[in-house]
Amino acid sequence: MSRKLYPVVALLIVAAMLLAACKPTPVPTEAPVVAPTQAPAAAPGGDLEVFSWWTAGGEAEGLAAMLKVFQAQYPDVNVINATVAGGAGVDARAVLATRMQGGDPPGSFQVHAGHELIDTYVVAGQMEPLTFLYEEEGWLDVMPEDLIKILSSEGEIWSVPVNIHRANVLWYNKSVFEAQGLEPPATWEEFFTVAETLKGAGIIPLSLGEAWTEVHLFETVLLGTLGPEAYAGLWTGETAWNTPEVTKALNNFDRVLDYVNEDYAALSWDQATQLVIDGTAAMNIMGDWAEGYFKAQEWTPGVEFGWAPAPGSGGSFDALSDSFGLPANAPNRDAVIAWLKVCGSKEGQDAFNPIKGSIPARTDGERSLYDEYLQSAMDDFSRDAIVPSLMHGAAAAPSWQQDVIDAVGLFIGNRDVAAFQEALTAACTSAGACQ
Ligand code: GAL
Repeated sequence: MSRKLYPVVALLIVAAMLLAACKPTPVPTEAPVVAPTQAPAAAPGGDLEVFSWWTAGGEAEGLAAMLKVFQAQYPDVNVINATVAGGAGVDARAVLATRMQGGDPPGSFQVHAGHELIDTYVVAGQMEPLTFLYEEEGWLDVMPEDLIKILSSEGEIWSVPVNIHRANVLWYNKSVFEAQGLEPPATWEEFFTVAETLKGAGIIPLSLGEAWTEVHLFETVLLGTLGPEAYAGLWTGETAWNTPEVTKALNNFDRVLDYVNEDYAALSWDQATQLVIDGTAAMNIMGDWAEGYFKAQEWTPGVEFGWAPAPGSGGSFDALSDSFGLPANAPNRDAVIAWLKVCGSKEGQDAFNPIKGSIPARTDGERSLYDEYLQSAMDDFSRDAIVPSLMHGAAAAPSWQQDVIDAVGLFIGNRDVAAFQEALTAACTSAGACQ
């Protein structure tokens, strides 16, 4: 139990004592007193607010499927599906911060595994540890050890992961590629050749959206240029930011920006993915929630759309995980625990992930429920080099992430590679990872 809970518990005890004092003293009866056998735990009821940013095609349906599993098991709970639109949680996270600061947490909220939770609400003492639930539910045996490490700090586990997403995926319109006689590019050099052909044919080579999707693209260019070890080292201080290798990655990013739609700043991630469906654009680099979006638009993997690792990143899996936590003073704690049990369950994860476009966080997911793309993601996850996503909360603290978001935003305006590299180097220093 978190220290923060103690005053609440003390208050409850006092309230219970007061209530007991007001009750009439029970009249003893002649009937023999039968010692009650262990009372069954009352099924939770009341309201449960589940807070997330899953509003787009695929992600909204995935959440609905998991909530359906919950409702079937806990019919007396009234679920409030509280969503704040905005991919990657850019808006939801701000709303959540205000609520947490104001002592008005939702019952449970979506949060990326890793720095996004540990460096914020965990260090502030605003979460309840969940190690006990892992022990009770046997999750320590069915969740990957490395994932548990990411979810842990100070010897406790702080949230329940529902999935693993891959960030470094290139999605493409198969009929556009076929018509142009193209193969998905495996390297950035191949990408530029393919992009020239597409541009010549009047097709937008790569669709792009609002600010966070630019950062998402940027991290895949870093990964695809530097390789997994050097990319991962960027976030630990082992890879310096002021080297010629990083300059090369920044130059690649600069070149990629010559092949995107002009209205990128005005598009959400799913609108950018939609350009590929429309055939206006040929490719999109996005996490595999785009797979959920394609399927929600009734596109079939391997038929209308194809996929490949983002250029240069074959053999690497840029990973992130969505999870749910228990705020220290969550309303209706029993219902939240019930929700978290569903989040960590095989049934919950196998209902959610095939629709969401992610693979289960559990290692015992029912493979046959997952389509061709997701099965390939399962295989890649088991053999690739796993690296953490920056834009999706795994690689760095939110303050460092914000510095990178700002640097990318400035760069897109001025296209000054040297200034960009300086800003990124300074960001690493102020995060305390670089000297
Ligand atoms: C990511 C999140 C995914 C998906 C995506 C777009 O940050 O992990 O589950 O929702 O944003 O909204």
